[in-house]
Amino acid sequence: MHSSSASSTATTAVSEVDTTNTNKEEYKQCDAFFKEIPPHADYDESISRVQRFIENAGAYQRIVLVTSGGTLVPLEKLMVRFIDNFSTGSRGAASTEYFLAAGYKVIFLHRGKSIQPFTRSIPPPLESLEVSVGPCCLGGGVRVKSSDSVKVRKVLEKYSKHKDSILYISFESLGDYLWYLKGISSELNKRVGYRAVIYLAAAVSDFYVPKSEMPEHKIQSDVKPTINLALTPKMIFPLATLWAPKTYIVSFKLETDSGILMEKAEKALKTYQHNMVAANLLTTRKTTVTFVERTGKVARIDNPEEDKDIESLMIGFLQDRHTAYIQTNPSS
Ligand code: PMT
Repeated sequence: MHSSSASSTATTAVSEVDTTNTNKEEYKQCDAFFKEIPPHADYDESISRVQRFIENAGAYQRIVLVTSGGTLVPLEKLMVRFIDNFSTGSRGAASTEYFLAAGYKVIFLHRGKSIQPFTRSIPPPLESLEVSVGPCCLGGGVRVKSSDSVKVRKVLEKYSKHKDSILYISFESLGDYLWYLKGISSELNKRVGYRAVIYLAAAVSDFYVPKSEMPEHKIQSDVKPTINLALTPKMIFPLATLWAPKTYIVSFKLETDSGILMEKAEKALKTYQHNMVAANLLTTRKTTVTFVERTGKVARIDNPEEDKDIESLMIGFLQDRHTAYIQTNPSS
C-alpha cells in the first residue's frame, strides 16, 4: 500500500564522518548535562518496567521506542513559568498504532497530556456519552450515543487487541526526556539489538536554563527579566554511536522554510550517523514526509487522502527498511 505513494530516487551518498577527536567533546557535553540535571524521581521504576516489558516480549520480537510530544524547559526552580516546544503528539500517537498493527511492540515515551494512541480517534466522553433510562438500566445508566457507537467500538476492539503490546512512559521536562532516551535506548541496544527501532517524533528543546542561572522563586514582573539560555547538547550523536549503535534510528527534522529542509536533513545524517531522517514542514506535515537514508536514498511519501493517516504509509515504508537492516546484520 505504501509503495504506491513513495517515490524513490538515489542522490549522492551521505559520507561517513570522522569519529575521532570532536566526538569526545560531544560526549563530554552530554555527560555534563546529565550531571547538572538529575533524572525524574520515577526513573529507576520506569527503567525496571522497560526491562520487564522487553523480557516478556520474547527473543525474536521487534520493539520500537516512539518518542512523542514537546519537551518543557522550566524557568524557575519552583516552576510557574516554562518554555515549551511545539508538538501535539499526533504523529507519535498515530505512528504507534501502525507499528502495533505491523507486529511491533511499542514503548511510547510521551509528554503527559499529549495526544494518545487509540483515544485520539474517539470523541470526548461528554460529547459521546448519554444517560440512558429504561428497563435495562434501572436507576439510569450511561451509554455511547448511537451516532458514535460504531467508531468507539472499533477503537475499543483495536485497543484490547494491542494493550499488552504497548508500554506507556510519560515525561514533562527536557531533562526527564533525555534521561529516559538514554536509559531506554541502552536497554534496547543491550537486549533487542538490530530488531529495535528508535523513532524520534518528539520535539526536543534546543535551549535550557542552566541550574546555576535559574532563580528559586517565581520571576517577578516589576523588572524586565533577563533569561540566559544554554544550548542543549545534541543527544542524537551519543544515541547513535554510544548508547544504541545496533538499533535502527529514525529522527525527524521539522522546518518552516522548505528551502532549507532537505539540506538540514542530509546534514543531520552526516553529523549524527544514524539511519534515517524524516523531513517535514510544519504546514504540510500531515500530507508529505520525505525520508532520507544514510545510503543517500530519498523517498517522498505523499498522502492525498484527507481522511487517511499519512503514518500508515510511513510505517509501512519503515518496516521494509528495518527488515532490510536486520537482514544485513545476520547476528540479530
Ligand atoms: O506532534 P505533531 O503535532 O503531530 O507534530 C509532529 C512533529 C512535527 C513535531 C514531528 O513530525 C517532528 O518533526 N518532530 C521533530 C521536531 C524537532 O524537534 O526536531 P529538532 O530539530 O529539534 O530535532 C531533530 C532531532 O534531534 C530529533 O529527533 C531530536 O530527538 C534530536 N535532538 C534534538 C535536540 C537535542 N538536544 N538532542 C537531540 O538529540
